[in-house]
Amino acid sequence: MPEVTIRIKDNGPFLVTGPVRLLDDDGNAYDLQGKETIALCRCGVSKARPFCDGAHKECNFQSAERAQ
Ligand code: FES
Repeated sequence: MPEVTIRIKDNGPFLVTGPVRLLDDDGNAYDLQGKETIALCRCGVSKARPFCDGAHKECNFQSAERAQ
């Protein structure tokens, strides 16, 4: 089975790489248009949620997680 990777970008989105399906709470799938990597907003400011639209740079979102 192909691997899915989620990378937490400093002060930015989750980058999800791999064969994923993204569903809303009703179970409807987003059309990912065959993209291998998607960026999911974690700052809450994107106008394209759940996707990142770069707005984290303007709202000065700060978060730099590190695995322990
Ligand atoms: S993380 Fe990029 S707009 Fe929210």
